[in-house]
Amino acid sequence: MKIIALQVSFLVFLSTLSFTSAASCPMDLNYVTRIPWNSSVCRDFHPLNSTPKAEISKQNCCVALLSVFGIGLAEHLKETTLFQLPDLPTSNTCLRDFQAKLDSLSLPNNVASLCFDPMQFVITPDLCANIQTTRDWVAKLGESTALDQGCRADLSDLTACDTCLRAGTEVHSRLVSIDGNSSHGTDCFDFIVLYAAGIVNEFGPEKEQGSRPRLRPNTGSIWFKLHDLEKATDNFSKKNFIGRGGFGFVFKGVLPDGTVVAVKRILESEFQGDEEFCNEVEIISNLKHRNLVPLRGCCMIDDDEIGINDHEKGRKNIILDVAKGLAYLHYGVKPAIYHRDIKATNILLDADMRARVSDFGLAKQSREGQSHLTTRVAGTHGYLAPEYALYGQLTEKSDVYSFGVVVLEIMCGRKALDLSSSSSPRAF
Ligand SMILES: *[C@@H]1O[C@H](CO)[C@@H](O)[C@H](O)[C@H]1NC(C)=O
Ligand SMILES: *[C@@H]1O[C@H](CO)[C@@H](O)[C@H](O)[C@H]1NC(C)=O
Ligand SMILES: *[C@@H]1O[C@H](CO)[C@@H](O)[C@H](O)[C@H]1NC(C)=O
Repeated sequence: MKIIALQVSFLVFLSTLSFTSAASCPMDLNYVTRIPWNSSVCRDFHPLNSTPKAEISKQNCCVALLSVFGIGLAEHLKETTLFQLPDLPTSNTCLRDFQAKLDSLSLPNNVASLCFDPMQFVITPDLCANIQTTRDWVAKLGESTALDQGCRADLSDLTACDTCLRAGTEVHSRLVSIDGNSSHGTDCFDFIVLYAAGIVNEFGPEKEQGSRPRLRPNTGSIWFKLHDLEKATDNFSKKNFIGRGGFGFVFKGVLPDGTVVAVKRILESEFQGDEEFCNEVEIISNLKHRNLVPLRGCCMIDDDEIGINDHEKGRKNIILDVAKGLAYLHYGVKPAIYHRDIKATNILLDADMRARVSDFGLAKQSREGQSHLTTRVAGTHGYLAPEYALYGQLTEKSDVYSFGVVVLEIMCGRKALDLSSSSSPRAF
């Protein structure tokens, strides 16, 4: 895991600037594309075909999707104490967002609506024993049930899984008998799964935090210890979460001296090894400009991830700020620096709504006397200049091209690559 702490007063990300929605989904569905799950059961699913075989393949797909969606519901239960979503508009929005994630896994653009009725995720008293919240649960079943002992452990261990399953069966028959209506059995079963995953299991629904990352000795004054950043961000707690993007997660943090920082946890895969990361850190740490996010320090340990969010603001100023930041990189420092990954998710807005270029993960320093660099092509689809993408020719113009795409995005309110289901099939 590589972490960068950027000194800022407050940050939002430009990436979702132009996208607003009425009812927002309280579930963070980014795990859908992050966790490993076998989506191939839904890939060759032909809904129009109503043969028995197609019916079975639909069922298999829907069961898989329910499990995946359930991870989000369990997380939601943990955060809000509600067993389902609060109302129908919220459920509709969540299912639409869920489908957008499935789109990006190349699944058919209507699987979520074919598998689910939005009403099935809305909380009502007549689902299972009048339970709507974890408080209702405790009132009906007591502080501790068989689940609390049986489902704590890591369930990838088959014996532990079996123990949890048996505990579930026991609690299920209690719930059904409290309810008295045997047709509520399925809902009660779902509640038990959500409770076991969201409340009881110590690894949580996503089971991400298996082992602690190993600390590697850091050198130099700008290097933080992981512990410092855990302290600054309250152990990367949810309340400090700013957002998520292609590169990982961003958290707000406060250093012991009171400085507010954005702490970015970076996906390992974005760097070709530690040497490259250290090199980029050296580059950024020497830069100072009001339209660049200043680096406060970094931390490197083995393993993991970063992030992103939204706001509204004078588009012209944002564009100008980004242009000034780029002009500084290209003409204000020697040798010039090519950012190589200018895109909406790499532009941050501070408390004064000034835009700052961030994420120098792919930055390259030009060598004196060379008109252009030929390097391994890196960057983001949709933003790459053609001559760079095709021939690896890197000049400051490559950044200008990407900047142009960002300008178009800001002006049109659309993403460079639109893979969502709302537009015509597979529209780019
Ligand atoms: C995923 O599921 C399909 C059947 O739906 C199976 O053929 C394939 O082996 C599975 N892949 C993995 C990695 O488990
Ligand atoms: C049992 O539950 C079903 C589904 O909620 C409902 O339609 C039915 O009226 C209930 N039966 C009784 C006796 O309450
Ligand atoms: C963060 O969590 C670890 C265990 O995961 C704990 O040892 C540590 O004290 C926590 N730090 C803070 C600042 O809460």
